[in-house]
Amino acid sequence: MCGIIGSIGPNQSAPFLLEGLKRMEYRGYDSAGIAIYNGTALETRRAAGKIAKLEALLVAEPIAGTVGIGHTRWATHGPPTARNAHPHLSADGTVAVVHNGIIENFTAIKSALQDLGYEFRSDTDTEVVAHLVQELFEGSLEEAVINALRKIEGTFGLAVISSRDPGKIVAARKGSPLLIGIGEGQNFVASDPSAILAHTRQVVYLNDGDVAVIEADKYHVIDINAIPQPRTVDRIDWDLAEIERGGYAHFMLKEIFEQPNTIENTMRGRLILEDGTAKLGGLNLTHEELLSIDNIVITACGTSWHSALIGEMMLEELARIPVSVEYASEFRYRNPIITPTTLCIVISQSGETADTLAAMREAKRRGARTLGLVNVVGSTIAREDDGGVYLHAGPEIGVASTKAFTSQVAALALFTLKLARKRDLSVVRGREIAQAMHNLPAQIQKVLDHAQDIEAIAEEFKRASNFLYLGRGYNFPAALEGALKLKEISYIHAEGYPAAEMKHGPIALIDEMMPVVFVAPHDAVFDKVVSNIQEVKARKGKTIVITSRDEPSLAGMIDYEIRIPETIDMLTPILAAVPLQLLAYYIAVKRGSDVDQPRNLAKSVTVE
Ligand code: AGP
Repeated sequence: MCGIIGSIGPNQSAPFLLEGLKRMEYRGYDSAGIAIYNGTALETRRAAGKIAKLEALLVAEPIAGTVGIGHTRWATHGPPTARNAHPHLSADGTVAVVHNGIIENFTAIKSALQDLGYEFRSDTDTEVVAHLVQELFEGSLEEAVINALRKIEGTFGLAVISSRDPGKIVAARKGSPLLIGIGEGQNFVASDPSAILAHTRQVVYLNDGDVAVIEADKYHVIDINAIPQPRTVDRIDWDLAEIERGGYAHFMLKEIFEQPNTIENTMRGRLILEDGTAKLGGLNLTHEELLSIDNIVITACGTSWHSALIGEMMLEELARIPVSVEYASEFRYRNPIITPTTLCIVISQSGETADTLAAMREAKRRGARTLGLVNVVGSTIAREDDGGVYLHAGPEIGVASTKAFTSQVAALALFTLKLARKRDLSVVRGREIAQAMHNLPAQIQKVLDHAQDIEAIAEEFKRASNFLYLGRGYNFPAALEGALKLKEISYIHAEGYPAAEMKHGPIALIDEMMPVVFVAPHDAVFDKVVSNIQEVKARKGKTIVITSRDEPSLAGMIDYEIRIPETIDMLTPILAAVPLQLLAYYIAVKRGSDVDQPRNLAKSVTVE
């Protein structure tokens, strides 16, 4: 996630900005930059890659000045290059902007500014803010920023400085965190308390709609109508390690709890409720090309392979196209049947997994069009695919994938909806699916609100040495994912299986020591799963059942129930994934595992 730091006061800004950016490295980023008012004009230094590169630039070409802003960028629009790094300058160089969030109407603003003769130097949405503030600059910097905010739609945390009104930093918040740091005669703005903790624990957290005017020895907060907004001064009591995890014990837990927001970000600006379809800007597939696809291969590894299995069912059910799912490591050495009308969907959180990258290259060599569902913008897979759908889930730091999985499934649902509505899916059914997707963030939050119930179940099973995870239909892949989560962070052996398949062998494993997790929401195959639960219970297995409704026929059959909200079948794995992630997490913590960096594992497997 991007990081913002600003510093104003009697001291040179550069050291504060660099230090603050370093404190935010943990959030994940791919480029960084600063802008400082040097007494006559604004100067910027920006670099792709690690902050050390920016630091080297500043050693070579220092900037003297006591008002400055800095940024670590996690690319959303445009690859991670120096030209796309923040801060962005206005056309006349008098305004510098750093931004977190997504400006949804930046295309419209960009073309309006181009009509006025503005030339753009980056691929980012943020650049429009710098030119807009210049264009609308009247009176003070805060007035100019407010004029610009009136035209912007989307989410933002902004910090702006200008040589036309140099004695201040103007900050604005809507949907992306921002705070003022009150130091001893030195004030700050930051998106993350860790950036300023070394200098002050006195902070003012801004609210959505706030505009802050920060000067060396004072600050005030107004709203977009310039009406003063009294804000309390809070004291940061966390230590640095806690701050980096947002107060959560582990990054994995933080990322599990981010899922209402990350699912919303995956769908942001893409779900068209009225038409029951999806808008995906990066497919690079014409209407005719989309209609010409007559077979799809989805290739991935690990958790991403599980979301691929769900995508297979979605696409076959709704778009009526044959789909095959291939482990990337297998696909790359097979002799697959690929035709010019094959679409190869490549799913990868990191966009760097060696097997997945190789599989995509093999599919391209054989003439398939490739579509990458990737989280890391500008990653190798994202740069080499023919088209893509970025997950917008933010950096996933925990090695065990959580929010990326649910965002992958949501992205597959968006693509399925778009494709199916070009074929046989009616607008009525499309609207139902779109509405169900729209409801997901609130439903995920409902599951998270009961996390402590799942922790209690974890306490019962922390000493288990084997688990079975069973599901059917859309929730067979969910069962596989639940088993993988448990295996990779608690080191307990766990196996995912189609529920009915258990009778063909694994049922021999069932005894009173075997916990069996059933992923059994009330979907089309629920009644079939009921009999599987009864089979396990008849053999004294311990049943943990994730379900969405009371079921009289299961009376006495469920030892531990986890309730999830009702949704349409294809989306149930998203809601079921959350308790599966939490169950694995709490068991692992109770077993003392290194949850964020489990033994033997890497976040991105960039070797064969
Ligand atoms: C998931 O929890 C694992 N960390 C692992 O299976 C991962 O999903 C796999 O290595 C694929 O990674 P990718 O999505 O970055 O390609």
